[in-house]
Amino acid sequence: MDGTTRRLTERVRELARERNAVILAHNYQLGEVQDAADFVGDSLDLAQQAAKTDADAILFCGVHFMAETAALLCPEMTVLMPDANAGCPMANMISARQLESVKAEHPGAIVVCYVNSTAEVKAHSDICCTSANSVRVVESIPADKEIIFVPDRYLGDYTARQTGRELILWQGYCPTHHRILPEAVQRLQAEHPAAKTVVHPECTAETISLADAVASTSGILRYCHESEAEQFIVGTEIGLLHRLRKENPGKAFYGITRLADCPNMKLNTLEKMVWSLEDMATVVRVPEGIAAAARATIERMLAL
Ligand code: 13P
Ligand code: SF4
Repeated sequence: MDGTTRRLTERVRELARERNAVILAHNYQLGEVQDAADFVGDSLDLAQQAAKTDADAILFCGVHFMAETAALLCPEMTVLMPDANAGCPMANMISARQLESVKAEHPGAIVVCYVNSTAEVKAHSDICCTSANSVRVVESIPADKEIIFVPDRYLGDYTARQTGRELILWQGYCPTHHRILPEAVQRLQAEHPAAKTVVHPECTAETISLADAVASTSGILRYCHESEAEQFIVGTEIGLLHRLRKENPGKAFYGITRLADCPNMKLNTLEKMVWSLEDMATVVRVPEGIAAAARATIERMLAL
Protein backbone atom coordinates (compact mmCIF):
# COMPACT_ATOMS: atom_id res chain seq x y z
CA MET A 1 0.00 0.00 0.00
CA ASP A 2 1.48 3.39 -0.97
CA GLY A 3 1.49 6.43 1.33
CA THR A 4 -1.52 8.16 -0.29
CA THR A 5 -3.66 5.01 -0.12
CA ARG A 6 -2.71 4.52 3.53
CA ARG A 7 -3.53 8.12 4.46
CA LEU A 8 -6.86 8.05 2.63
CA THR A 9 -7.78 4.70 4.21
CA GLU A 10 -6.99 6.06 7.67
CA ARG A 11 -9.11 9.16 6.98
CA VAL A 12 -12.03 6.98 5.79
CA ARG A 13 -11.82 4.87 8.96
CA GLU A 14 -11.58 7.95 11.18
CA LEU A 15 -14.66 9.54 9.56
CA ALA A 16 -16.59 6.26 9.76
CA ARG A 17 -15.93 6.21 13.53
CA GLU A 18 -16.97 9.87 13.94
CA ARG A 19 -20.17 9.37 11.93
CA ASN A 20 -20.92 5.95 13.46
CA ALA A 21 -21.12 4.69 9.87
CA VAL A 22 -20.67 1.14 8.67
CA ILE A 23 -18.95 0.74 5.30
CA LEU A 24 -20.34 -2.00 3.05
CA ALA A 25 -18.53 -2.86 -0.19
CA HIS A 26 -19.43 -5.18 -3.02
CA ASN A 27 -16.98 -7.87 -4.15
CA TYR A 28 -16.35 -5.95 -7.43
CA GLN A 29 -15.11 -2.74 -5.81
CA LEU A 30 -11.54 -1.51 -6.30
CA GLY A 31 -9.17 -3.42 -4.00
CA GLU A 32 -8.40 -0.38 -1.84
CA VAL A 33 -12.12 0.36 -1.41
CA GLN A 34 -12.75 -3.25 -0.29
CA ASP A 35 -9.81 -3.04 2.11
CA ALA A 36 -11.22 0.12 3.75
CA ALA A 37 -14.69 -1.43 4.27
CA ASP A 38 -16.16 -3.10 7.37
CA PHE A 39 -17.81 -5.79 5.32
CA VAL A 40 -17.36 -7.05 1.74
CA GLY A 41 -19.81 -9.42 0.09
CA ASP A 42 -22.27 -10.29 -2.66
CA SER A 43 -25.67 -8.63 -3.09
CA LEU A 44 -27.39 -11.02 -0.67
CA ASP A 45 -24.66 -10.73 2.00
CA LEU A 46 -24.81 -6.92 1.78
CA ALA A 47 -28.62 -6.77 2.03
CA GLN A 48 -28.50 -9.09 5.07
CA GLN A 49 -25.72 -7.05 6.63
CA ALA A 50 -27.64 -3.77 6.06
CA ALA A 51 -30.78 -5.29 7.60
CA LYS A 52 -28.97 -6.08 10.86
CA THR A 53 -26.68 -3.08 11.34
CA ASP A 54 -27.26 -0.69 14.25
CA ALA A 55 -25.01 2.11 12.93
CA ASP A 56 -26.39 5.62 12.24
CA ALA A 57 -25.27 5.58 8.60
CA ILE A 58 -24.23 3.17 5.87
CA LEU A 59 -21.62 4.16 3.30
CA PHE A 60 -22.54 1.84 0.45
CA CYS A 61 -19.74 1.15 -2.03
CA GLY A 62 -21.48 -0.64 -4.87
CA VAL A 63 -24.08 0.38 -7.45
CA HIS A 64 -27.34 2.27 -7.01
CA PHE A 65 -29.79 -0.66 -6.68
CA MET A 66 -27.67 -2.09 -3.84
CA ALA A 67 -27.70 1.19 -1.89
CA GLU A 68 -31.41 1.51 -2.62
CA THR A 69 -31.98 -1.99 -1.17
CA ALA A 70 -30.11 -0.94 1.98
CA ALA A 71 -32.19 2.27 2.18
CA LEU A 72 -35.38 0.22 1.90
CA LEU A 73 -34.29 -2.18 4.63
CA CYS A 74 -33.06 0.58 6.96
CA PRO A 75 -35.55 3.46 6.50
CA GLU A 76 -34.38 5.27 9.65
CA MET A 77 -30.73 5.22 8.61
CA THR A 78 -28.74 7.55 6.34
CA VAL A 79 -27.53 5.56 3.35
CA LEU A 80 -24.74 7.24 1.38
CA MET A 81 -23.12 6.48 -1.96
CA PRO A 82 -19.59 7.77 -2.69
CA ASP A 83 -20.68 8.34 -6.31
CA ALA A 84 -24.39 8.51 -7.04
CA ASN A 85 -23.71 7.99 -10.77
CA ALA A 86 -22.79 4.35 -10.14
CA GLY A 87 -25.81 2.67 -11.70
CA CYS A 88 -26.33 -0.84 -13.08
CA PRO A 89 -27.20 -0.79 -16.81
CA MET A 90 -29.04 -4.12 -16.49
CA ALA A 91 -31.28 -2.72 -13.73
CA ASN A 92 -32.27 0.05 -16.15
CA MET A 93 -33.22 -2.41 -18.91
CA ILE A 94 -36.77 -2.71 -17.59
CA SER A 95 -39.13 -0.01 -16.33
CA ALA A 96 -42.23 -0.45 -14.16
CA ARG A 97 -44.36 0.43 -17.21
CA GLN A 98 -42.74 -2.33 -19.28
CA LEU A 99 -43.16 -4.81 -16.43
CA GLU A 100 -46.84 -3.89 -16.14
CA SER A 101 -47.33 -4.64 -19.83
CA VAL A 102 -45.85 -8.17 -19.43
CA LYS A 103 -48.02 -8.70 -16.34
CA ALA A 104 -51.09 -7.73 -18.37
CA GLU A 105 -50.24 -10.50 -20.88
CA HIS A 106 -49.93 -13.07 -18.05
CA PRO A 107 -52.60 -12.31 -15.46
CA GLY A 108 -52.05 -14.24 -12.22
CA ALA A 109 -48.32 -14.82 -12.88
CA ILE A 110 -45.88 -14.32 -9.99
CA VAL A 111 -43.15 -11.76 -10.71
CA VAL A 112 -39.64 -12.62 -9.52
CA CYS A 113 -37.26 -9.68 -9.88
CA TYR A 114 -33.52 -10.00 -9.70
CA VAL A 115 -32.18 -7.62 -7.03
CA ASN A 116 -30.41 -5.84 -9.94
CA SER A 117 -33.57 -3.80 -10.58
CA THR A 118 -34.90 -0.38 -9.59
CA ALA A 119 -37.01 0.10 -6.45
CA GLU A 120 -39.91 0.95 -8.76
CA VAL A 121 -39.66 -2.42 -10.54
CA LYS A 122 -39.37 -4.15 -7.16
CA ALA A 123 -42.56 -2.36 -6.07
CA HIS A 124 -44.35 -3.96 -9.05
CA SER A 125 -42.91 -7.44 -8.33
CA ASP A 126 -43.90 -10.19 -5.86
CA ILE A 127 -40.54 -11.48 -4.66
CA CYS A 128 -36.91 -10.55 -5.15
CA CYS A 129 -33.93 -12.86 -5.67
CA THR A 130 -30.17 -12.59 -6.01
CA SER A 131 -27.73 -14.76 -7.93
CA ALA A 132 -27.17 -16.68 -4.66
CA ASN A 133 -30.79 -17.72 -4.12
CA SER A 134 -32.71 -17.51 -7.44
CA VAL A 135 -33.21 -21.30 -7.49
CA ARG A 136 -34.55 -21.35 -3.91
CA VAL A 137 -36.86 -18.40 -4.63
CA VAL A 138 -38.33 -20.00 -7.78
CA GLU A 139 -38.71 -23.36 -6.00
CA SER A 140 -40.75 -21.60 -3.28
CA ILE A 141 -43.47 -20.68 -5.81
CA PRO A 142 -46.36 -23.17 -6.21
CA ALA A 143 -45.94 -25.36 -9.32
CA ASP A 144 -49.27 -24.30 -10.83
CA LYS A 145 -48.25 -20.63 -10.99
CA GLU A 146 -46.79 -18.96 -14.06
CA ILE A 147 -43.58 -17.03 -13.28
CA ILE A 148 -42.28 -13.85 -14.91
CA PHE A 149 -38.55 -13.34 -14.28
CA VAL A 150 -36.95 -9.90 -14.80
CA PRO A 151 -34.62 -8.39 -15.91
CA ASP A 152 -31.71 -10.83 -16.51
CA ARG A 153 -32.39 -13.31 -19.29
CA TYR A 154 -29.25 -15.32 -18.46
CA LEU A 155 -29.82 -15.70 -14.71
CA GLY A 156 -33.45 -16.45 -15.60
CA ASP A 157 -32.47 -19.09 -18.15
CA TYR A 158 -30.00 -20.70 -15.71
CA THR A 159 -32.63 -20.70 -12.94
CA ALA A 160 -35.20 -22.25 -15.31
CA ARG A 161 -32.79 -25.07 -16.16
CA GLN A 162 -31.85 -25.68 -12.51
CA THR A 163 -35.47 -25.81 -11.32
CA GLY A 164 -37.10 -27.40 -14.38
CA ARG A 165 -39.65 -24.52 -14.33
CA GLU A 166 -40.66 -22.62 -17.43
CA LEU A 167 -40.02 -18.90 -16.81
CA ILE A 168 -41.28 -15.96 -18.84
CA LEU A 169 -38.02 -14.05 -19.34
CA TRP A 170 -37.37 -10.36 -19.87
CA GLN A 171 -34.46 -9.92 -22.31
CA GLY A 172 -32.15 -7.83 -20.09
CA TYR A 173 -28.51 -8.72 -19.57
CA CYS A 174 -25.30 -7.49 -17.98
CA PRO A 175 -23.05 -5.80 -20.59
CA THR A 176 -19.96 -6.70 -18.52
CA HIS A 177 -20.68 -10.44 -18.24
CA HIS A 178 -21.78 -10.48 -21.88
CA ARG A 179 -18.14 -9.83 -22.81
CA ILE A 180 -16.99 -13.13 -21.28
CA LEU A 181 -16.98 -15.12 -24.51
CA PRO A 182 -17.02 -18.95 -24.66
CA GLU A 183 -14.06 -18.90 -27.07
CA ALA A 184 -11.97 -17.05 -24.48
CA VAL A 185 -12.94 -19.60 -21.80
CA GLN A 186 -11.98 -22.48 -24.09
CA ARG A 187 -8.63 -20.86 -24.90
CA LEU A 188 -7.78 -20.57 -21.20
CA GLN A 189 -8.98 -24.11 -20.51
CA ALA A 190 -6.60 -25.37 -23.21
CA GLU A 191 -3.71 -23.39 -21.66
CA HIS A 192 -4.50 -24.52 -18.08
CA PRO A 193 -5.98 -28.03 -18.29
CA ALA A 194 -5.76 -28.58 -14.49
CA ALA A 195 -7.76 -25.44 -13.71
CA LYS A 196 -11.41 -25.51 -12.58
CA THR A 197 -13.72 -23.06 -14.33
CA VAL A 198 -16.22 -21.14 -12.21
CA VAL A 199 -18.58 -18.51 -13.58
CA HIS A 200 -21.33 -16.13 -12.51
CA PRO A 201 -24.90 -16.93 -13.69
CA GLU A 202 -25.07 -13.54 -15.47
CA CYS A 203 -22.80 -15.10 -18.14
CA THR A 204 -24.38 -16.35 -21.36
CA ALA A 205 -25.73 -19.93 -21.47
CA GLU A 206 -22.86 -20.95 -23.79
CA THR A 207 -20.23 -19.69 -21.31
CA ILE A 208 -22.10 -21.30 -18.39
CA SER A 209 -22.12 -24.64 -20.25
CA LEU A 210 -18.29 -24.69 -20.13
CA ALA A 211 -18.07 -24.22 -16.34
CA ASP A 212 -17.44 -26.70 -13.51
CA ALA A 213 -19.42 -24.48 -11.13
CA VAL A 214 -21.85 -21.55 -11.36
CA ALA A 215 -22.24 -19.25 -8.36
CA SER A 216 -22.76 -15.73 -7.02
CA THR A 217 -19.62 -13.69 -6.32
CA SER A 218 -19.45 -14.91 -2.69
CA GLY A 219 -20.30 -18.42 -3.94
CA ILE A 220 -17.29 -18.25 -6.29
CA LEU A 221 -15.09 -17.22 -3.34
CA ARG A 222 -16.39 -20.15 -1.28
CA TYR A 223 -15.98 -22.63 -4.15
CA CYS A 224 -12.35 -21.62 -4.82
CA HIS A 225 -11.53 -21.60 -1.11
CA GLU A 226 -12.97 -25.06 -0.46
CA SER A 227 -11.83 -26.75 -3.69
CA GLU A 228 -8.68 -28.90 -3.67
CA ALA A 229 -7.78 -27.49 -7.10
CA GLU A 230 -4.95 -24.95 -7.23
CA GLN A 231 -5.87 -23.06 -10.38
CA PHE A 232 -9.15 -21.41 -11.36
CA ILE A 233 -10.51 -19.75 -14.48
CA VAL A 234 -12.89 -17.11 -13.16
CA GLY A 235 -15.82 -15.94 -15.30
CA THR A 236 -17.08 -12.80 -13.64
CA GLU A 237 -16.24 -9.12 -13.21
CA ILE A 238 -12.50 -8.83 -12.58
CA GLY A 239 -12.85 -6.96 -9.25
CA LEU A 240 -13.46 -10.36 -7.61
CA LEU A 241 -9.84 -11.34 -8.33
CA HIS A 242 -8.69 -9.03 -5.50
CA ARG A 243 -10.36 -11.08 -2.76
CA LEU A 244 -9.70 -14.40 -4.49
CA ARG A 245 -5.94 -13.71 -4.54
CA LYS A 246 -5.82 -12.09 -1.10
CA GLU A 247 -7.69 -14.94 0.60
CA ASN A 248 -6.00 -17.80 -1.30
CA PRO A 249 -2.31 -16.86 -1.62
CA GLY A 250 -1.25 -20.37 -2.67
CA LYS A 251 -3.69 -20.61 -5.59
CA ALA A 252 -3.67 -19.15 -9.13
CA PHE A 253 -6.64 -17.28 -10.59
CA TYR A 254 -7.08 -16.47 -14.28
CA GLY A 255 -9.53 -13.71 -15.25
CA ILE A 256 -11.04 -14.42 -18.67
CA THR A 257 -10.95 -10.94 -20.18
CA ARG A 258 -9.95 -7.48 -19.03
CA LEU A 259 -13.13 -6.23 -20.70
CA ALA A 260 -15.13 -7.76 -17.84
CA ASP A 261 -14.57 -4.62 -15.80
CA CYS A 262 -17.81 -2.94 -14.69
CA PRO A 263 -17.20 0.81 -15.13
CA ASN A 264 -20.02 1.67 -12.72
CA MET A 265 -18.64 -0.42 -9.87
CA LYS A 266 -15.28 1.29 -10.33
CA LEU A 267 -16.65 4.83 -9.95
CA ASN A 268 -16.22 4.57 -6.17
CA THR A 269 -12.77 5.57 -4.93
CA LEU A 270 -11.15 6.22 -1.56
CA GLU A 271 -11.22 10.00 -2.21
CA LYS A 272 -14.96 9.89 -2.90
CA MET A 273 -15.48 7.84 0.28
CA VAL A 274 -13.75 10.60 2.25
CA TRP A 275 -15.84 13.36 0.61
CA SER A 276 -19.01 11.36 1.10
CA LEU A 277 -18.44 10.91 4.85
CA GLU A 278 -17.26 14.51 5.29
CA ASP A 279 -20.34 15.98 3.56
CA MET A 280 -22.77 13.14 4.40
CA ALA A 281 -23.63 12.99 0.68
CA THR A 282 -25.05 11.63 -1.56
CA VAL A 283 -28.01 10.34 0.44
CA VAL A 284 -30.00 7.59 -1.29
CA ARG A 285 -33.77 8.00 -0.87
CA VAL A 286 -36.61 5.88 -2.16
CA PRO A 287 -39.84 7.76 -2.97
CA GLU A 288 -42.48 7.07 -0.31
CA GLY A 289 -45.11 5.98 -2.81
CA ILE A 290 -43.11 2.88 -3.80
CA ALA A 291 -41.00 2.17 -0.70
CA ALA A 292 -43.46 -0.06 1.20
CA ALA A 293 -44.19 -2.31 -1.80
CA ALA A 294 -40.51 -2.54 -2.81
CA ARG A 295 -39.52 -3.36 0.79
CA ALA A 296 -42.11 -6.14 0.98
CA THR A 297 -40.68 -7.72 -2.21
CA ILE A 298 -37.19 -7.79 -0.66
CA GLU A 299 -38.42 -8.99 2.73
CA ARG A 300 -40.25 -11.94 1.13
CA MET A 301 -36.87 -13.07 -0.19
CA LEU A 302 -35.06 -12.54 3.12
CA ALA A 303 -37.75 -14.51 4.95
CA LEU A 304 -37.06 -17.66 2.88
P1 13P B 1 -23.59 -10.93 -6.78
O1 13P B 1 -24.89 -10.82 -6.05
O2 13P B 1 -23.27 -12.34 -7.18
O3 13P B 1 -22.49 -10.31 -5.99
O4 13P B 1 -23.70 -10.16 -8.18
C1 13P B 1 -24.04 -8.82 -8.28
C2 13P B 1 -23.76 -8.30 -9.61
O5 13P B 1 -24.01 -7.16 -9.92
C3 13P B 1 -23.18 -9.19 -10.57
O6 13P B 1 -22.86 -8.50 -11.74
FE1 SF4 C 1 -24.75 -4.37 -13.25
FE2 SF4 C 1 -23.21 -6.05 -14.61
FE3 SF4 C 1 -22.09 -4.05 -13.29
FE4 SF4 C 1 -23.18 -6.15 -11.97
S1 SF4 C 1 -21.38 -6.16 -13.33
S2 SF4 C 1 -23.43 -3.97 -11.48
S3 SF4 C 1 -24.93 -6.59 -13.32
S4 SF4 C 1 -23.50 -3.88 -15.04
